[in-house]
Amino acid sequence: MARESSRSRSRDRSIDRSTELLERARELIPRAAQTNSKSPAQFVQGVSPTHVERAEGCRVWDVDGNEYIDTVMGLGPNMLGHNYPAVTEAVEDQLGDGTAYSMPHSLQVDVAELIVDTVPCAEMVRFGKNGNDMTALSAKLARAHTGKDVIATQGYHGWPDVFMSAGPLNRGIPDAVGDYTESFEYNDIESLERIFEDHPDDVAAIVTTPVNLSAPEDDFLERVREIADREETLLVFDEILTGYRYALGGAQEYFDVTPDLACFAKGISNGYPLSALAGREDVMRTIEDDDFIFSMTYAGEAASLAAAKACITEQIERGDVHDHIWRQGRAIRDGYNELAEEHGVDHLTECVGMGPRPNATFEDGDGADANLLESLFMQEAHKGGVLFAGSHLPSYSHADEDIEEMLAVYDDAMGVLAEAVESGTVESSLEGKPVGASLREQLGEED
Ligand SMILES: Cc1ncc(COP(=O)(O)O)c(C=O)c1O
Repeated sequence: MARESSRSRSRDRSIDRSTELLERARELIPRAAQTNSKSPAQFVQGVSPTHVERAEGCRVWDVDGNEYIDTVMGLGPNMLGHNYPAVTEAVEDQLGDGTAYSMPHSLQVDVAELIVDTVPCAEMVRFGKNGNDMTALSAKLARAHTGKDVIATQGYHGWPDVFMSAGPLNRGIPDAVGDYTESFEYNDIESLERIFEDHPDDVAAIVTTPVNLSAPEDDFLERVREIADREETLLVFDEILTGYRYALGGAQEYFDVTPDLACFAKGISNGYPLSALAGREDVMRTIEDDDFIFSMTYAGEAASLAAAKACITEQIERGDVHDHIWRQGRAIRDGYNELAEEHGVDHLTECVGMGPRPNATFEDGDGADANLLESLFMQEAHKGGVLFAGSHLPSYSHADEDIEEMLAVYDDAMGVLAEAVESGTVESSLEGKPVGASLREQLGEED
């Protein structure tokens, strides 16, 4: 059934309105999008939709009225599902009372209490809007609190100068800024130790994602915690993707390693703009020092705080949100890999990563380039009604039937891929421009 519906969708499909909007966007908006991973270059231009009209649960409709099963859910924030009723109602109620006032709204206390109640490291909390706000604050706060300058870092933490200064996307950042940022590799404790050898007594913080596509190996997180304690350096977990997703208390609860500070965004407010830095009271109180500043007009905006209160409360009350996400993610990963094997392309594509974040990867092989293989698979998935983007961030609204339908579309797409590989027609089967390098690929990150 699902297969028939994906084929009929593919026959009737038009993306005329998307194409027209993209032309207008290109005239007005550099890169035609506000987020790198949402720019047209990340999709198969000429086949993929470029603009969305609405979304509900795990479904999304583009501006031409084509319906898709969402896979990446707005890059993660819609963890309960798009337009999730309990969150939408809380926001609607709040809108009637206004959103931005001349002093804090009581909701800031409610949400801070919820975070302190649920996150192991959280004793105090400050809010921002994007993940960037919190990763930048964590580095600045660590420097202020410890009186040390160097940030040892691994993983993607957004575009703040402190994190981008040492990498390939450092245009516009003075070279001197990069002198105080050092990178290490995930699961490579020696690469972290070397930073402390090179900068004795001058590392303010280790800022790391607790888990990437690879899970921590050989007690990596415990050993990072030990190094931070030994060196009197703060340990910061960037839980922007993992917080409230791997478990209610985030990856720190799941892996049972407590950082000094942790950054949250995507799992706390189900699609509304709110981020949070949570951590040890003595560190957080440095924000109160007379010569320290962190301040934003919209950080305490009430509609997003209402969304966060409803989102975290729903996770607590339902009790099965995280199990559901793990189960659906595993079903996607295992189903994808079974299909790749059935179609004889498992040497070219594999879905990797833990349950909450399965990620489809492609390898060069059989004369075909990984990027073209990914583009062809994406093309077929989009034509079949699945908004494939490589990464999957399953939500509480992905029901078993949705995963079955997704995998039926992947079955067809994998068939097309296998045939094209066999006949050497991968490139000529593409009906649009291949996908460009992702931000993480540009940065050389594993994830
Ligand atoms: C781990 C991590 N850190 C930081 C960020 C940056 O967050 P934002 O884009 O909300 O500023 C992201 C965004 O994808 C992320 O995944």
